Amino acid sequence: MNLNKKGLLLLLNVILAACAREPLSPTCMLYEYEERLLERVLRNEIGLENTLKDIVKTHAKVEDALQRLEDGKVLIKSMVEAMKEKQYTMDLTLRDFMENITRIVNSTLTTSVNNLESKHEALALKSITLVSDAIVELTENVSATVKTVSNLQEKLKGGYILNSYIASVLMTW
Ligand SMILES: *[C@@H]1O[C@H](CO)[C@@H](O)[C@H](O)[C@H]1NC(C)=O
Ligand SMILES: *[C@@H]1O[C@H](CO)[C@@H](O)[C@H](O)[C@H]1NC(C)=O
Ligand SMILES: *[C@@H]1O[C@H](CO)[C@@H](O)[C@H](O)[C@H]1NC(C)=O
Repeated sequence: MNLNKKGLLLLLNVILAACAREPLSPTCMLYEYEERLLERVLRNEIGLENTLKDIVKTHAKVEDALQRLEDGKVLIKSMVEAMKEKQYTMDLTLRDFMENITRIVNSTLTTSVNNLESKHEALALKSITLVSDAIVELTENVSATVKTVSNLQEKLKGGYILNSYIASVLMTW
């Protein structure tokens, strides 16, 4: 309550004290009426003041709630950003991992295929060598055999001539 209202109340009290002694004078009756009127106005004013205080309190609460809401929004936004960032990093790591695996599998496969190919080639080479060796040996064996056979024929021919000679000598006896 401000100073004006306090002064007014004091004045009213003084008038009331005077009228307590002489209640029925017209001045006092008028004052009494005015006093009641003033009291009512003051009560209304106090009621209004309280209402205003309530409104101010409510407003502060609403502002506080709004601020908290805003803080919450900011927090959620930053969390979402952090999650997005994490997701991105995870995606990158996963892709990196898959690339690594693909590379490793590919290189292992390539090495195996190369090994297999070189083994196959070696095998083919060995087969070819074996076959050609066999052919060479066979040829040598054949010519050796041919030689042996003709030597034998020579010997047989010689034997035949000798035998014919012996036979003719024996017949002349
Ligand atoms: C992929 O390989 C590279 C090097 O070979 C390595 O530094 C990286 O950590 C690997 N990434 C994953 C996710 O395994
Ligand atoms: C595997 O490696 C070979 C060469 O070593 C390359 O030509 C081929 O594109 C690779 N494949 C993949 C799926 O990376
Ligand atoms: C060639 O002859 C030798 C013995 O003289 C024999 O051991 C070898 O098996 C023969 N090779 C073939 C291809 O017939």
